[in-house]
Amino acid sequence: MKFTVAIDGPAAAGKGTISKAVAAHFGFAHLDTGLLYRAVGAKVLGGANAVDAAEMLMPADLEAGNLRTAEVAEAASKVAAIPEVRRALVEFQQSFARRSGGAVLDGRDIGTVICPEAEVKLFVTATPEVRAQRRLLELQASGSETTFDEVLADVLARDARDAGRADAPMKVAEDAVLIDTSEMEIADAVDAALAEVERRRDLA
Ligand code: DC
Repeated sequence: MKFTVAIDGPAAAGKGTISKAVAAHFGFAHLDTGLLYRAVGAKVLGGANAVDAAEMLMPADLEAGNLRTAEVAEAASKVAAIPEVRRALVEFQQSFARRSGGAVLDGRDIGTVICPEAEVKLFVTATPEVRAQRRLLELQASGSETTFDEVLADVLARDARDAGRADAPMKVAEDAVLIDTSEMEIADAVDAALAEVERRRDLA
C-alpha cells in the first residue's frame, strides 16, 4: 500500500510531534526532512561545500548528535536556499514517500514540491510568539540561558528565509488542511491530524 502524508509548516509549530504521532498510530514510516538540511548545514559548519555535502549525504549522517542546535538550524536554513542542495535531496525523499506501508514526511515543501500527489497534506502553524515561547521552554529545559526576544528573532529570521527563498519556499499547498496550534493543546492538534488521515484513508 502506498499512502503519503505530507506535513509542512514553520519551526516549532508542532509538526514533529504530530508527524511522529501519525506515523506511530498508522504504522507508517516517518522522515523528518529538516534533518537532511540540518545534516548538510552541520557539514558546512565543519568546512564542507554545501552542494558536495548534499550529494554525498548518507543515512548515517542523519544520526549525528549535534543536529538539533540553533547554530545548525540556521546553517540548515541557509543551505536550504541553494537549488543544487535541494535537488540533490529530492530523490531520497520521493522514494521514501513511495515506500510500501505508508510514509509521513514533514518539512517545508513536501506537499508543494516533493509529494504534490500526497494523499494527505497538512500545514501545521502557530503565531511566531507562541512558537518562540515553546522553543524557549525546550531550550531552557536543556540548560540554555537564551531569552524570549533572542528566540523570537531567530524564529522570525528563519521564517523569512524559508518562506522568502525562490526555490521551493515554505507555503501552504492549495489542497492542504491548515492546523493552527496557537491556541490548541498539542494533544488536540494530534487528534485533528489523526482524524484527517483517517478520513482520507477511508476514501483511498
Ligand atoms: O524543520 P527543521 O527546523 O528541522 O528544518 C531546518 C531547516 O531546513 C529549515 O529552516 C528549512 C530547511 N528545510 C527545508 O528547506 N525544506 C524542508 N523540507 C525541511 C527543512
